[in-house]
Amino acid sequence: MGGPTMVMIAYKCPQYKVTVVDIDPTRIAQWNSDDLPIYEPGLDEIVKTTRGRNLFFSTEIEQGVKDSEVIFVSVNTPTKTFGAGAGMAADLQYWEKTARQICQCAESPKIIIEKSTLPVRTALAMERILTSNEDGIHFDVLSNPEFLAEGTAIRDLENPDRVLIGSRLTESGLRARDELVEIYANWVPRERIITSDTWSSELSKLAANAFLAQRISSINSISALCEKTDADISAVAKAVGMDSRVGSEFLNASVGFGGSCFKKDILNLVYLCRNYGLNEVADYWESVVQVNEYQKRRFVLNMMTAMFNTLVGKRICLFGFAFKANTGDTRDSPAIFIAKRLIEERAELVITDPKALDNARIDLNGIDSNVSYIEDPYKAASGCHAIAVVTEWELYRDLDFEKIYRSMIKPAFIFDGRNILDHKRLFEIGFNVFPIGKPALTHL
Ligand SMILES: NC(=O)c1ccc[n+]([C@@H]2O[C@H](COP(=O)([O-])OP(=O)(O)OC[C@H]3O[C@@H](n4cnc5c(N)ncnc54)[C@H](O)[C@@H]3O)[C@@H](O)[C@H]2O)c1
Repeated sequence: MGGPTMVMIAYKCPQYKVTVVDIDPTRIAQWNSDDLPIYEPGLDEIVKTTRGRNLFFSTEIEQGVKDSEVIFVSVNTPTKTFGAGAGMAADLQYWEKTARQICQCAESPKIIIEKSTLPVRTALAMERILTSNEDGIHFDVLSNPEFLAEGTAIRDLENPDRVLIGSRLTESGLRARDELVEIYANWVPRERIITSDTWSSELSKLAANAFLAQRISSINSISALCEKTDADISAVAKAVGMDSRVGSEFLNASVGFGGSCFKKDILNLVYLCRNYGLNEVADYWESVVQVNEYQKRRFVLNMMTAMFNTLVGKRICLFGFAFKANTGDTRDSPAIFIAKRLIEERAELVITDPKALDNARIDLNGIDSNVSYIEDPYKAASGCHAIAVVTEWELYRDLDFEKIYRSMIKPAFIFDGRNILDHKRLFEIGFNVFPIGKPALTHL
């Protein structure tokens, strides 16, 4: 998130010098090469325009802190895996180290911006660490959560629905806030730059992700009912979404949500609620994550039931491993769960993905003796009993499925975990087709 965000600021504001620093020298080396550490449509072009002009990537964190007047802290805040709050709370170790480092090396007043997604009132902790400096240097801490989505990061950054800036409502806090408003106003219309107190800003990010994930779990829960009743989830989603109070976005039934943020941020919200004794509120949001786990489990069980209750020795091709289209990111991808379950059932897996195969290899490292990774989807599907579409890559819509059908073992199955294919046509070709939340089309 930090990389693309700073790239956009450098691109839109040639008058500022932007330096991105990271503790990971490999990542910095990649940012300085032609092979960037992440894939995002449009990112390469603007890095080429700005790098060396007013955008610099460096491992010199101390120097970066000393030289900068405004510091955006975008370090990772994963779910804690140990101790109190393990599996729920945000792990704040990277973030706290950064605060201490800024405190140690700063020689002049600075505006510190929380860009990472953090529990409510974290800015207060950051203020406390920063004001413990012995030199009496003044820091203003602002909350400026980032709402970009992976796969559309550049578009979202260039044309955001809104930019949110939270500050203390003191004279100094408001002055710092106005400085950050001026940075964004270089390209974002003023009416889309909204301001609030710090705590509301921090909570808005967690709430926004919880609401988005909740829509996916809501439609996925109805997809399970559709499969029992021969209703069609696309028809239901269309009818529900055309209500202007509901809206049509984020109503695609699927294998479930993934990515590094939704689950982590909801669990963080759940942990906060439990901490404040709000158990009913915590249960409500936790169920969004539970429905998501259920949806992934259900997908694999449906595959097994359809394929005569055994997957042992069957060759199954996963179309896609990234957690969504247009990214190589596989963090918390439903594909990981699905692949692991299929391996447990002793299936043979062939994984294909245009951008995520390197990450897939890392995710399945140690358990992939029966897994092959093949970038060409035709070669990947050849000789398989079934295809499972896990990522909604556009390229899968346009494949020659007659050719694929001819190369597969019969009866051939397609499980469309993203509902992106033309199911009727696949059925006519000869496939047994199992969409999400729609009647199966089968010759059996
Ligand atoms: N990925 C997204 O789409 C997205 C969107 C909005 C918000 N966020 C939030 O942004 C934050 C970062 O997410 P990400 O996906 O970019 O994570 P990431 O793990 O890809 O990047 C974090 C980077 O911080 C570096 N880092 C860690 N400690 C450091 C330190 N002390 N000094 C300098 N660098 C340090 C790491 O080496 C890493 O390169 C999280 O809080 C996340 O919730 C992410």
